[in-house]
Amino acid sequence: MFGDQKVCFSGVQPSGNLTIGNYLGAIRNFSEFSELYKTFYCVVDEHAITVRQNPAELRRRTYETLALYMACGLDPEKNTLYVQSMVHEHAELAWILNCYTMFGELSRMTQFKDKSTKHADNVNAGLFTYPVLMAADILLYQTDVVPVGIDQKQHVELCRDIATRVNQIYPDLFTIPEPIMPKSGKKIMSLVEPTKKMSKSDENTNAVVYILDDRDAIIRKFKRAVTDSGAEVRAAEDKPGVTNLMTVYSCFTGKSMEEIEREFAGKGYGDFKLAVGEVTADALAPVQKRFAELMADKAALEAQMKKGAEEASYYARRTLSKMQKKLGFVQIH
Ligand code: TYM
Repeated sequence: MFGDQKVCFSGVQPSGNLTIGNYLGAIRNFSEFSELYKTFYCVVDEHAITVRQNPAELRRRTYETLALYMACGLDPEKNTLYVQSMVHEHAELAWILNCYTMFGELSRMTQFKDKSTKHADNVNAGLFTYPVLMAADILLYQTDVVPVGIDQKQHVELCRDIATRVNQIYPDLFTIPEPIMPKSGKKIMSLVEPTKKMSKSDENTNAVVYILDDRDAIIRKFKRAVTDSGAEVRAAEDKPGVTNLMTVYSCFTGKSMEEIEREFAGKGYGDFKLAVGEVTADALAPVQKRFAELMADKAALEAQMKKGAEEASYYARRTLSKMQKKLGFVQIH
């Protein structure tokens, strides 16, 4: 809460081309908070450097992620849209919170375990303390709700633990945030290995549908998606491939799993996969069109980055300064 206004915060890493997992699990849901909450949506470039990035690509993806926020319906007049590294308070609060986060807590984070296996040659301290930076992002804005996919729930829970620990020493310093996940779409799975999350860093591009994939690529990827034995379009635990495709179809059409089963009763996987590809391509077409328009005007995106960072800093500064004062840091105005 800031004053009597509830706050919503979320972030996306510009670390790869964004996927329909990012879209359905997070970005698509961001605009529903714009009316009732003060909303901050951040392009978290500082998080991205926990694994090696090509600088030119990181820069390009930072513009793209901001443009995608807007293309997905986030009006910069109603939402604070900005880039993390332009608001220095994130890194400063993260340092302080490092001193209130336990080694054991960070060691238990499943994303750290996964990423340190995947990037075994670069298990850097930033990869380990990544959730502390994420906690700083959230707590700086006195956030009430954090819309995320299920893979980020554990990090938001750690953020709650850190905030509670600090509040026990300095009462009411931080609002305790709540993760919010969509009913459907909180975990979109890989099209090739449907027991694995769809991830923008997957090397197999057939496993992933990107928000910016063209219609042909989208339809081709769904057509080739791994399905399960049998031929029935039915959601079941032992049918992760079909269940995942049904989830995507449900997210884009609003139909329930039962309705989808009825719609495709007696039809094969082929018809169903084509239908999933078509609804996905139809839904993404307007986003892609708007994205292209926004990307054509770099100066406007930069103006937005500047404006967003100024807006965000105003709030971030207040929380950071409150924390610094409590800690005993000398403040001279
Ligand atoms: P990131 O960039 O990996 O993903 C951005 C958002 O997309 C969601 N998501 C998915 N949802 C459903 N199915 C999938 N397959 C899928 N893949 C990704 C993520 O859950 C996330 O909501 N650490 C965060 C970024 C971050 C952040 C924050 C988020 C930094 N600070 C503060 C919230 C609040 C991350 O790496 O997300």
